[in-house]
Amino acid sequence: MVNKYLYLNTIGCQMNVYDSEQIAMRLAALGYQQTSSLENADLVIVNTCTIRAKAEQKAFSFLGRLARLKKKKPGLITAIGGCVAQQEGEKIFKRIPYLDLVFGTQAIDRLPSLIQMIDQKRCRIVDIEQADKPLFQEADDGIAATDQMSRFVTIMRGCDNFCSYCVVPYVRGRETSRHPDDIINEIQQYAQTGLKEVTLLGQNVNSYGKKERLCAFTELLSRVSQIEQLLRIRFTTSHPKDFDQDLINAFRTNEKLCKHIHLPVQSGSNRVLKRMNRKYTKALYLDKVAKLRDTCPDIAITSDIIVGFPGESTTDFDETLELIRTIEFDGLFAFKYSDRPNAPSADYDGKVSDQQKKDRLQILLDLQETLTRRKNQALVGTCLPILAEGFSKRQSSGNLNQPDQAVQWTGRTSTNKIVNFYHDGNPASCNDICPGQLVNVKIEKAYSHSLWGKAVEGKAAAEELKGERSYAA
Ligand code: 5AD
Ligand code: SF4
Repeated sequence: MVNKYLYLNTIGCQMNVYDSEQIAMRLAALGYQQTSSLENADLVIVNTCTIRAKAEQKAFSFLGRLARLKKKKPGLITAIGGCVAQQEGEKIFKRIPYLDLVFGTQAIDRLPSLIQMIDQKRCRIVDIEQADKPLFQEADDGIAATDQMSRFVTIMRGCDNFCSYCVVPYVRGRETSRHPDDIINEIQQYAQTGLKEVTLLGQNVNSYGKKERLCAFTELLSRVSQIEQLLRIRFTTSHPKDFDQDLINAFRTNEKLCKHIHLPVQSGSNRVLKRMNRKYTKALYLDKVAKLRDTCPDIAITSDIIVGFPGESTTDFDETLELIRTIEFDGLFAFKYSDRPNAPSADYDGKVSDQQKKDRLQILLDLQETLTRRKNQALVGTCLPILAEGFSKRQSSGNLNQPDQAVQWTGRTSTNKIVNFYHDGNPASCNDICPGQLVNVKIEKAYSHSLWGKAVEGKAAAEELKGERSYAA
């Protein structure tokens, strides 16, 4: 097998991260090794996102930069995959004439043969076929061994909800769930090579398996939690209209399920929610949050909000701010509305000016920053179990004999808050911490996007650990 190099640029959501891993795994069988050097690459793939205009622009600006490389290295194969490829198809060749391959969201399994064909025949290919009943061909040759401690695993693809602003149902196709045995099998294989945390991915996990009559999502969660080596389970995303008491109960009964839910609300105005085709009201959303907090008081709730949806008045926007103040989310992802191809709202009247969208976004982010800081501040002085991920970016050069240069680690709380922490006192023990280990950390400082603390002995935090096992003890 010839050794060649693959440069893979992933833009967009966690589902794209998972897809890119699948791409890399399938191409490894053809002899492609991943490289972080564009200059060394024999094959460049950009895995794209089209959910907002900005993500699409990012993909085209990257592709634009490849022209020079292609001139220098004519044998280089360049490809675009993912949602932009699915949406634009062969039109992309007009914009990027030196591109070799456009492959859609359901063509990943066919990628090795597409690349081989281009390699041999030097032809251009477009493959954006969407089967009626897609996907999830399991890789024949098993899962490549890795030592990743945390991973995303896709449990379903596509979406049937048709929110009026969203391209996902058009570019990812109809909702399809993967068989639970295949999901468990995949996670079990990763667990054998060090996986400690898994995030199950789907556009609307509450409808997992319903169409195919597989099993309920909560049953899948309970099967995943039986994988012994796994310490933590997360999932995303839940649609508020389908989020039910069964799943709420799982936060109490399933000890490995992290105490965090991402529940996109999009707007606090019933009028806007209706035009967005979200199929719930502000009252229903508030009711579900109340039930959730009733069952699991320490759960962290995050959400997505779109500002400047067509027709959003200042009163509508004020209702969104009011909802944010009432709920006090732990964190928010807020976006300026953008028109997307095929999305019905692109034709709605009452478009909001870009300046207004910018202003509203800033007001919302300022409000949320105050709330997040306050929530984070309340954690100062507590001791929390953190799943260590690796060194934090601000890591020192590592002179362990100098206390101010103690190694800085980074990890997350069960509630998904980033904690950078240090381990002083006994410098040698810094080296005892390894990725995938649960460490008790005493929180000393709070910022708006992270916390800062000190690793402490496990026993001191026994109360906070609850169902989680500590390796620091
Ligand atoms: N414009 C702005 N934001 C959007 N999102 C989806 N479509 C659009 C759009 N056209 C946001 C939603 C969704 C998140 C993933 O992206 O908030 O929850
Ligand atoms: Fe898009 Fe709505 Fe489906 Fe989410 S639920 S992917 S916002 S259509």
